[in-house]
Amino acid sequence: MLSRRRFLATMSAGSCAALVGPPNILRGAVGVEVGRPLPIPPLMEPSASAPGTLEAIAGRTNFLDGAGTRTAGFDQTFLGPVVRLTRGASAPMRVRNRLSGEAITCHWHGLAVPGHVDGGPHQVIAPDASWSPELDIDQPAATMWYHSHLHGRTAEQVVSGLAGMLIVEDPDAPDPGLPKTWEVDDLPLIIQDRSFQDDGAFGYAKMGHTLMHGFRGDEMLVNGVIRPTADVPAGLTRLRLLNASNARTYVLHFEDERSFHQVASGGGLLPAPVPLSRLELPPASRAEIVVDFGKGGEVALRSEEDPYEMGMGMGMGEGGGGMGRGGMGGRGRMGQGMGRGRSNSGDGFEVMRFRPDASRTSGISSLPGRLAGAPEPNRESPVRRRTFELNVHGGGMGMGGMGGGMTINGDAMDMEVVNHTLRRGETELWEIVSTEMPHPFHVHGGSFTVVSRNGEPVPFESRGLDDVVLVNGTAEILVRMDPLAPPDAPFMYHCHILEHEDSGMMGQFTVEE
Ligand code: C2O
Ligand code: CU
Ligand code: CU
Repeated sequence: MLSRRRFLATMSAGSCAALVGPPNILRGAVGVEVGRPLPIPPLMEPSASAPGTLEAIAGRTNFLDGAGTRTAGFDQTFLGPVVRLTRGASAPMRVRNRLSGEAITCHWHGLAVPGHVDGGPHQVIAPDASWSPELDIDQPAATMWYHSHLHGRTAEQVVSGLAGMLIVEDPDAPDPGLPKTWEVDDLPLIIQDRSFQDDGAFGYAKMGHTLMHGFRGDEMLVNGVIRPTADVPAGLTRLRLLNASNARTYVLHFEDERSFHQVASGGGLLPAPVPLSRLELPPASRAEIVVDFGKGGEVALRSEEDPYEMGMGMGMGEGGGGMGRGGMGGRGRMGQGMGRGRSNSGDGFEVMRFRPDASRTSGISSLPGRLAGAPEPNRESPVRRRTFELNVHGGGMGMGGMGGGMTINGDAMDMEVVNHTLRRGETELWEIVSTEMPHPFHVHGGSFTVVSRNGEPVPFESRGLDDVVLVNGTAEILVRMDPLAPPDAPFMYHCHILEHEDSGMMGQFTVEE
């Protein structure tokens, strides 16, 4: 098996130099400049009188000094605006595809909207075409996202930049007492890993290790900037974290190990703030945290190495890629002596930094004990049980071997096949099983309640509602669908490692009256 380190080495000549040289030497004219200010994407608030328009465009983005990177985005060259929607209102959207020769879709990940406006693989937007879904919003306030979901091309398109944050607000819910001044004490953080080639292009090839285990880059972007620095109030600040990476799970923490509070998961507020010092954020997951920047000065947000990367401490057997825990070598943040050297101890890596700024103030001085308006768990008894087994090598009837492809219950995604039929409003218990490796399992159409992982009950207080669950063994979730999804516009369930999804680890279900 070709280890990732070897793979990187073969991909980029001169990666030995990367282990010792500062970035601008190893890259020649191309350098990594860390610490640029954190950009906040523009806010788009569609309403009946002003539809939200998103135009997918191609362009070049200057992540690096001295070389542009070919990228794509919505209304901008990389990523898109933060789309903010209001519960109880209807949001007309218009998505136009101005990429040449490349179809896209625009999926509203986490929204409980009917199948024909979900933006999944069936709502293809051809080049030059546009798609105008009307989104009727009726779900708790939450941080979600949107991204292209073209079957077989999602991984490449999301790497290129076709993604953005989406927020639902609920003006009729009681005020939970959290920071809420956009750009001041309430910040969106879209976290992604990428690799760069010497010419500045993204290093990405959906083959080999990347195809089997999902892409992991060796440089960090937050809101489309390499390891930026954010100015924050010297007080309580809300961070809306979105892991928009293809495959990497982050274990986030601050360099001084300060504790913080998680106040929301992907489906909305938690019942009460949960104190943490480390937060696991699997692909496609969101979490909102409140951090006190009032003491200690400038501080880095860091991540541990991905605990689920093959050979990275997963216990997948000896020599599982020969990676060890000491970083990945290659270029970028994980090489020795890179970036702000002091932050790269070989134990994880820096994501970004926060700089308290006395001219900014936080809207709150203490966290509430309970979060008013938090969603309730689904307490209904399930009327049905279904099992979903996620297989990297085909699974099913003893197929085994490498030829089987990625499947769920032995079936690879087929656009023409509806795998399951649900009835609207019925609660079901889904058991998700991962065999060879962990998978972040996602369901379209709304949020679910995680009941257990590996047989251990998961308290609602710590998990809330969500639409992604990392399955490392087994997980049980309670699923209840309210929006309809007819056979010509079914919902998807899939692994959110985008290379697995594209390779067939996805299925379709309808929701019928
Ligand atoms: Cu993030 Cu099927 O979606
Ligand atoms: Cu989704
Ligand atoms: Cu997977």
